[in-house]
Amino acid sequence: MIIVIDFGSQFNQLIARRVRENNVYCQVEPADISIDKIREINPKGIILSGGPSSIYEENSPSIDTELFDLGIPVLGICYGMHYMVHALGGVIKRAEKREYGFANLEVKDALPLFKDMDNLFQCWMSHGDSAKELPPGFEVTASTENTPIAAIADHDRKFYGLQLHPEVEHSVNGSLMIRHFLFDVCRCEQNWTMKSFSEGAIAQIKDAVGDQKVIMGLSGGVDSSVAATLIHKAVGKNLFCIFVDNGLLRLNEKEQLEKSLTSNLDMNIKFVDARKKFLDALKGVTDPETKRKIIGNLFIEVFEAEAGKIQGASFLGQGTLYPDIIESKSAFGGPTSIIKSHHNVGGLPEKMKLKLIEPLQLLFKDEVRKLGLELGISEDLVWRQPFPGPGLAIRIMGDITEERLNVLRTADDILLQEIKAAGLYRKLWQSFAVLLPVKSVGVMGDKRTFANCVAIRAVTSSDAMTADWAKLPHDLLGKISNRIINEAEKINRVVFDITSKPPGTIEWE
Ligand code: XMP
Repeated sequence: MIIVIDFGSQFNQLIARRVRENNVYCQVEPADISIDKIREINPKGIILSGGPSSIYEENSPSIDTELFDLGIPVLGICYGMHYMVHALGGVIKRAEKREYGFANLEVKDALPLFKDMDNLFQCWMSHGDSAKELPPGFEVTASTENTPIAAIADHDRKFYGLQLHPEVEHSVNGSLMIRHFLFDVCRCEQNWTMKSFSEGAIAQIKDAVGDQKVIMGLSGGVDSSVAATLIHKAVGKNLFCIFVDNGLLRLNEKEQLEKSLTSNLDMNIKFVDARKKFLDALKGVTDPETKRKIIGNLFIEVFEAEAGKIQGASFLGQGTLYPDIIESKSAFGGPTSIIKSHHNVGGLPEKMKLKLIEPLQLLFKDEVRKLGLELGISEDLVWRQPFPGPGLAIRIMGDITEERLNVLRTADDILLQEIKAAGLYRKLWQSFAVLLPVKSVGVMGDKRTFANCVAIRAVTSSDAMTADWAKLPHDLLGKISNRIINEAEKINRVVFDITSKPPGTIEWE
């Protein structure tokens, strides 16, 4: 195992994913982890992440320097390298100006990190401070024009530092540097696979649950489906899944889910028709947060009532992923989680006195997809784009009525068909239609129309924390617009959303 020490970098999860791509298990730990805990984990290597601070700032992140006496190889990236240099007796120069973007790295000493690479290649930098004097035992292994000390090594102690960010895709050879650290320096074994993970997880769940009952809410998304399948493999018919149809689903969504979850996976699933309840409660509500609260509370109410019918259940399954766990542990957790009140089934176990089972809590999304395929879940389900708990309610600006839901459903379905036909569905984080609260004038045939406007939202992202609007081809946009206006009733205008996150959010409400 490798551990990444979280010094607050927005990239620390990316570092962990880069390591895991090599079938080596990697865990992100907060900087205040104790040395005893590290000894207990006994990692093969430690990566000190970057971070936004300068080591001279008050309260800049630090870790017990006994870390450097453990005899474990260390790779410091950006702030992590500054921290190591400073802690071991070197000097860090405060920035006069930031270096941000591409730089050419000139390699002076190829082994071990720059093995099998050219002597000059492009890397990606984002830093203010840089190393000025090295601690005893270290030498410079690469430079750039602005940063003479861009990479360092203490070969005896197996300590390495990189000013560049090997984890970001723009760094040519970045993944290879990480690979060399894992295999040439730390001598890791490649035993982290979804097959080995699922065998271990199923055995653990069996052990923990025995012949007791597990309840689980299914959302139709990848995470809850994969978690449920894994639990199902361990406890079989003692897993009781509940799917709440809140009437805010997309066209044919419930039917598709029913098909892939019940017929393909033979799971015990109760579909609860609560459409009328939700629509009644949402009548006349236009404020986004109020909509979210109503839907969240009603979901809990309906779910609890249903779960209460299952006598003697002791566990609640959840599809929580590793990024949520890191976020909640991180001393530097971002503010994004409180921008909108997210709807999930958190809060349930407390009231219901159920113990939680979160079998995916060590996994990143890409690993969950791999695991899903490994468990025999259909590609369609495994590759579904995320869909928010409050559903179409937060994609209809203003009043939610059955009629407006149907208008949006048709437009959204056309958009998805075309995105899939263009081979873009998996490349996009999300793509969907939004129904706007404005009507505009148009002309169709010889007739004046005054009808609804729909926005197309398509974004690329790796974790939804940040996102870029997708540069969809104009031809495709034209086709989607044409089809929506011709085939969906009551829509006469289509616009394309070109807002990134930040400053926008992915959903409109
Ligand atoms: P925003 O709009 O905050 O969305 O940029 C980020 C990601 O989260 C999804 N989302 C939700 N998912 N319950 C969910 O399960 C929610 O209440 C919720 N709100 C937003 C959104 O679709 C995007 O992928």
